[in-house]
Amino acid sequence: MNFLQEHALLDKQHHAKVAPHYDELVNIPRKTINDCLFKGAEKYVRNARGVMLDLGAGTGQMTVRFGGNFSEVFLVDHSKEMLEQAKKNIAVVGNVNFKLIETDAVGFIENTEEVFDFVACSGFLHHLDEADLTKTTHHICRVLKDGGYAVIAEPIKAERTEPALIRWWNKPVIPHLMQYLSLAPAPEETPLDLPSFFEIMTKAGLTLKYQRKSWEIYSRFNNGWQDRFFIPVIDRIWNDGVVWVGVFKKA
Ligand SMILES: C[S@@+](CC[C@H](N)C(=O)[O-])C[C@H]1O[C@@H](n2cnc3c(N)ncnc32)[C@H](O)[C@@H]1O
Repeated sequence: MNFLQEHALLDKQHHAKVAPHYDELVNIPRKTINDCLFKGAEKYVRNARGVMLDLGAGTGQMTVRFGGNFSEVFLVDHSKEMLEQAKKNIAVVGNVNFKLIETDAVGFIENTEEVFDFVACSGFLHHLDEADLTKTTHHICRVLKDGGYAVIAEPIKAERTEPALIRWWNKPVIPHLMQYLSLAPAPEETPLDLPSFFEIMTKAGLTLKYQRKSWEIYSRFNNGWQDRFFIPVIDRIWNDGVVWVGVFKKA
């Protein structure tokens, strides 16, 4: 087994254990800050119709956020357990034909003959080494229709440290979130190096139309009014953080 196969196996084992708790420990605590992070990307998807691809779909966060516009959404993930959670979560999105595909996302994008009006990819690309990242972005461009958009969200490398106020805000929530790691050790991951990633995307034929960053600012009040008031205010002041979203267009 080579390094990549071993990494994929560890990743599947990790997600098999964390899947039933993933939303509680990962997506729900980030819901308010993710609403801020993705808000500017929405206008690029608002008028899109047709078929969407959610690559590395996990529990379907991107499909729930953007999938309602489309007649068909493909959710691709190598974790059966994550897709089982996704199946429950996407039930809130009506009138869409979902295809849940349990397979390696790199192999899927390389070999599929489908074409898509929109591709979403969140928290997946940083799992790949440079060769697979280059291959995957090339094929994202290949499967996108002309004029189609790809929304990519990833953790990025940054020298900056978290602002003190955000550290203070997150402090009471951290012990609960640490349960995520204690459930099962995650395989080693490196955040994306943004300048190199831009080069790779440009070579693939995709043009950056919009980007923004944020810090991880966790919900303290069940995403209630206090979170929805304070988190956007904090995010407006300190947003040069370690989470990044970019919208790319195929010319
Ligand atoms: C950090 S989670 C993000 C999930 C989801 N996109 C979200 O935004 O919540 C990364 C997902 O990528 C999947 N994944 C990682 N490597 C993969 C691969 N080689 N093929 C398919 N899925 C993969 C994992 O199973 C996991 O569900």
